[in-house]
Parts: sequence; structure tokens; C-alpha cells
Amino acid sequence: MNTPIENKKFFLCYFESTRNCNINCRYCMTQSADPEKEIKGEELTTSEIKSLVIDEVKKYTPLSAIAFSGGEHLTRSDAMELLEYTADSGLWSFINTNGRLLNKKKVREIKKITDGKVVFAFSLNSISKKIHKWSRDDALRTVVKAAKVCASEKANFFFILTVSKSNLETLQETVDFLKKHKIPILRSPYVLRGKGALYPELRFDKIDMETIINPVLRDYSLSYISYTPFFASPEFLEEEWKKLDLSIEQFGCQAAKGFVGISAEGEVAPCVHLLDSEVSCGNIRDTPLSDILKNNEVIQNLQTRDKLKGKCGICRYKMTCGGCRALAYYETGDYLAEDPSCFFEPENQDTRSEHEDIHNKNSAEFIRFIKDQEPWSLLF
Ligand SMILES: C[S@@+](CC[C@H](N)C(=O)[O-])C[C@H]1O[C@@H](n2cnc3c(N)ncnc32)[C@H](O)[C@@H]1O
Ligand code: SF4
Ligand code: SF4
Repeated sequence: MNTPIENKKFFLCYFESTRNCNINCRYCMTQSADPEKEIKGEELTTSEIKSLVIDEVKKYTPLSAIAFSGGEHLTRSDAMELLEYTADSGLWSFINTNGRLLNKKKVREIKKITDGKVVFAFSLNSISKKIHKWSRDDALRTVVKAAKVCASEKANFFFILTVSKSNLETLQETVDFLKKHKIPILRSPYVLRGKGALYPELRFDKIDMETIINPVLRDYSLSYISYTPFFASPEFLEEEWKKLDLSIEQFGCQAAKGFVGISAEGEVAPCVHLLDSEVSCGNIRDTPLSDILKNNEVIQNLQTRDKLKGKCGICRYKMTCGGCRALAYYETGDYLAEDPSCFFEPENQDTRSEHEDIHNKNSAEFIRFIKDQEPWSLLF
């Protein structure tokens, strides 16, 4: 079916191309918590990925990137072919990687086949070697070395920082280090997906959020993508953001707005953290991705945010934040429930957060950065 392109905004399809990995992190969300329990279905083949993922994403909007993740995408025998196909289709690739298979030669090769339309995303959980290693099954030097290779080869990269109780004590120094080097970060909230369910005690709570996580993130403008709670004002979104004509819709939760997740077997969820859960939006082997994005009820509910419940439903920041839908789901079983990590207590939609000014100010700084700085200026 030929669905017309309606979305003119930047869109990131987070695709876990395989569950296979060359390391074995203790709480990995893509591995089953019960090794006896088989994950249903075969992984998508090369031709399925080309037609059902890449072509469909392009159809939805050519202003897109595919974030190849896993498992470890680079362990797939067709990893390079898929990156090349993505670039030939005019799309950008992100490679979310543990960095183990990267060296100068590989980075050069990837840059060449993608025509430079590639961004590496390295997982780094702490600047403390011990704390990083505890969660990552690998030494800190692996990602640091891979990032240095990217820097010397002028390849784009940033870090993904998974926040859990295990790395809170070094969050400030880790972010300070990345800030010193002006490296953007994306925070991944620890969730009970996959082997994550084995460590419920690692979930952070609203006190951690109020006293550590939000203060650290809100002070660093290059972390301003997709985290909650986020207090940029709705007026800022209306007045400043729209004026800039950016192709990203907003800050805060991106689930189903600028972002969806697809599993190795083709399941779609509004956020990668919600894959393998009941919040499935269907399988691309049965329904084209562009149809799912257009017609699925879960996707629509999250795009409009009309049905958000609890304090997220009455909040002034409903559209600029929206609350983490994954944290809401793992806490209550309901993806529309309020974000359990939010410390803001709105009485009604006029209640303002004391942190609104700093979020507005740093949001403006973040916008300036992505407007001026490649590759972001080319993407957004
Ligand atoms: C599953 S890994 C796959 C990509 C690549 N192999 C790597 O190690 O970065 C993608 C990201 O998910 C994060 N992650 C893994 N388990 C998680 C969990 N239970 N909750 C939240 N994030 C998690 C990792 O820290 C990593 O940044
Ligand atoms: S549900 Fe939203 S805020 Fe939570 S991890 Fe996914 S995109 Fe980010
Ligand atoms: S109540 Fe919900 S929408 Fe409002 S700031 Fe908190 S998490 Fe965000």
C-alpha cells in the first residue's frame, strides 16, 4: 500500500537489528530474563529489513534516521550492507554500540559506505571504571578508545548514559566530564524490560530524580533530548521553538512522537524501552510500519497526549514533557499513567515549576547548538 508522507518532522526509528551480542551486560533489556523462555519469532532477514524497516521509514519521512542497535548490530553479517542501503536511501544511520568491534579501519569504512551520514552512540554508564564495568560487562577503556578513534577520524558520536541506582553516585562527575568535552548525551532510564526485570532494586525513584538526576541533566544543555520531567514552558514551545522552524517537534518524551522502537523480530513499540511488553503496536511482518505509525491507537494516544492520566494529564508541561511512558508502564502496567519519577506536584494546568526558567534558557542554548553544529544542523 502506498501511504502518503504526512510527517515532515525528524523521525528516529530505533531498530534492534539482532539480540545477539559480543558482551553480556547483567541487566540488558534485550535479553530474556528467563534463558529457558524463547523469544517468539525469527529475526528479520536482510531483505525484510530493507523493505519493511528502511523503505517504510523513508516512506514515512525522508527526514529520518535509523538507530541500529541490538544486541550488537555490528555482529550481524549484513551490518555493513544495511548501513550502506540506509545511506543510499538518503537516510542517516545511528549505530548504538558497545564499541568493541570498532577500530580506525572500521570507522573509516563505515564513514565511506554511509557517505558520512552516520552517528555513533556509545554506551557509557560512569566515568568510574568500577561502576561502568559492573553494569556493562566491559572495561570503560573500550568505549573511550572507540570515541577517541571517532574523534580522530572526524566521525560524529555521542554517549548514551543508562541511569540506575548503580551509577547515581557518579552521575555528576560523569556528566561534568562529558560537559568539559562538549559531548552530547542521551539518558536511558533503567527499566524492567528483559534482564532488567532481574534487578528491580536498580530503579531510581522520585527523590533520586529531584535531588540528583534532574539537577545534573537540567544544568547541561547538551543532554536536552528526551528526558522527563522536563519543564520547558508551553509558551516557549509555541513562541521560540516554532519560530525556529526545527524539524524536531519538542523536548521531553519522544515516544511515538519523534521516535519508535522495532525489535529484531519486527514488533513495534512507541519507545524501545517498551518492546517485548504488552504495549505492542503490531508487527511489521503483518502491517506496514507506515500504517502502524498512521493508524495504531497507542501511537495516536501518545501523539495527542489527550489520554494521559494522573498529574501528567493535568500538567502545564504535558506537551513539552509528557512524562516517561516506559517508567509509567513498568510501575503501574498502564503506559498512560503518570510518570512515577516526577517530583513536580501540579494542582492544575497553571502550576509552574520553579525550574522552568533554567529549562527554557538551556533549551534555547541546546537549539542554538543543534542549529549551528554538524551533524545536527544537517539532521534537524
Ligand atoms: C541494549 S544496548 C544495545 C546497543 C549496544 N550493544 C550497546 O551495548 O550499547 C542499548 C542501550 O540500552 C541500555 N540498556 C540496557 N539494558 C537496559 C535497561 N534494563 N534499562 C534501560 N536501558 C538499558 C544500554 O545501557 C545501552 O545504552
Ligand atoms: S518513554 Fe519517552 S521519556 Fe521514557 S525512555 Fe522512552 S522516549 Fe524517553
Ligand atoms: S507531571 Fe508529568 S508531564 Fe508534568 S512535569 Fe511531571 S512528568 Fe512531566
